[in-house]
Amino acid sequence: MLESSHQNLAMVTCTAPVNIAVVKYWGKRNEDLILPINSSLSVTLHQEQLKTTTTIACSRSFQQDRIWLNGKEEDISCPRLQSCLQEIRRLARKRRNTGDPTSDISVVSHKVHICSVNNFPTAAGLASSAAGYACLVYTLSQLFGVEGELSTVARQGSGSACRSLYGGFVQWKMGERSDGKDSIAEQVESESYWPELRVLILVVSAEQKSVGSTSGMHTSVETSQLLKYRADVVVPCRMVEMIRVIRQRDFPAFGELTMKDSNQFHATCLDTYPPIFYLNNVSHRIISLVHRYNQFYGETRVAYTFDAGPNAVIYTLQEHVPEFVQVVRHFFPSEANGSEFVRGRPVCSADLSEELKRALNMEPTPKGIHYIISTKAGPGPCVVEDPNHHLLGVDGLPKKNAVSD
Ligand code: DP6
Repeated sequence: MLESSHQNLAMVTCTAPVNIAVVKYWGKRNEDLILPINSSLSVTLHQEQLKTTTTIACSRSFQQDRIWLNGKEEDISCPRLQSCLQEIRRLARKRRNTGDPTSDISVVSHKVHICSVNNFPTAAGLASSAAGYACLVYTLSQLFGVEGELSTVARQGSGSACRSLYGGFVQWKMGERSDGKDSIAEQVESESYWPELRVLILVVSAEQKSVGSTSGMHTSVETSQLLKYRADVVVPCRMVEMIRVIRQRDFPAFGELTMKDSNQFHATCLDTYPPIFYLNNVSHRIISLVHRYNQFYGETRVAYTFDAGPNAVIYTLQEHVPEFVQVVRHFFPSEANGSEFVRGRPVCSADLSEELKRALNMEPTPKGIHYIISTKAGPGPCVVEDPNHHLLGVDGLPKKNAVSD
C-alpha cells in the first residue's frame, strides 16, 4: 500500500481473474442479495491472458466516491457497486469494534477513487463483470484491512464474481439461509491440481448484442419449468459428480458433464418465454465439430461450454491442443496470420490427416471465429506490489495510460 502522509492518500492495486462455469449458475431466488436457485462450479482462468486490474485510493481530501472503468468515468450510484462498497465498509467498521489493534480505521470514513481496466477487449464479449467485481471487492478489502469471507460481498456485485475470488476449481454453494450468509464460494482444488488441463476461448463474431444475464435469468425463473427441474433435480447430483471427476482428473467424464451442462443451460434459455438465443450458427458448428472430433477418436478429448453469448470455451488436455487448434483453423479459416489468430499461451503447429478432415465432414466457415485465446487454470486475486503499476496518480486521478495494460 502506498501511504503518503503529505497527501493523506492510501492506495492499493490488485488483479483478479475471469472464471468459466462448467456447472452453470442461472436464476436467482433473491435478486437483491443475489442468491442463486442452484449451486455452480467453475474453472478460474489464468491472469496472464485475462484479468482485471483495479487501483483504489482513499483520502480525507476526496469529496465523493468515484469510479473509472476502462478509461471512462462511470456512475458510482449503480446499486450493485453501492452494495459492495457499503458491505466492505460495514465489515471494516465491525473489525474496529472488535478492537483489532492493527486496523487503521480512519480510512474507512474516507471517500474512495476506483480505477479499473481489463487486459482483454470488452468487445470480445467475454464476461468481465465477474473479474471486475471480484477485483473491486478484493482491492477494497486490502485497502481497509478486511479479512475473511469476501465471496458473500463479491456475490452482491455479480453472482459469478464470487467464484473469481479463488484460483483453480471453485464451487459456489447456493446455501439455504434467506440472509445469504451461507451462499459462498469455496475452492475445490487449486490451479496446480490438474496441470494438463487447457482452455481455448474461441471468440466468435456476434452480429447482435445478446440479452444480458441478469434480465435473461430473471425471465427464465419466471417462465421456464425446465429451469426449475434443472435446479431442483439435475444440478444437485451434477455438482457431486463434477467434483468427483475433477478430483479424479477424469477428462472424458469432466468433458461430457461440462457439455451436457452447457446444453441444458441453453435448453432452459430456449424454454424461457419469450425464448432467449445465445448461440449462433458458428456456435452450432463448433458444437458439431467437437462431437465429430471426439467420435473420430472414440473418446471425449475436447469439450465445449457457452455462456450468455456465442463464444465457445473449449476445455481439453495439453496433448490435444495443437491438433484441435489446427482443426479450428482449417474449418474456420481467418485472414489473421498465425500469431494474431492464436493469442495467449503459444500453441505448436500440427498437421491434420486427410482421414480426420474427411471424418469431420464439414464445409469451412470463413471468418466465423475472430481469434483464439489459449490459456489454462490460474490463481485467484493478487496484490500488485510495484507502485509503478498503480492506475491512479498521487493526485488520486487516473494516470494518462490507465486505459489498458
Ligand atoms: C451464464 O453472474 O453475470 O455466465 O448475478 O445477474 O450478475 P448476475 O449474473 P452473472 O451470470 C453468469 C451466468 C453465466 C453462468 C455462470 O457463470 O455460472
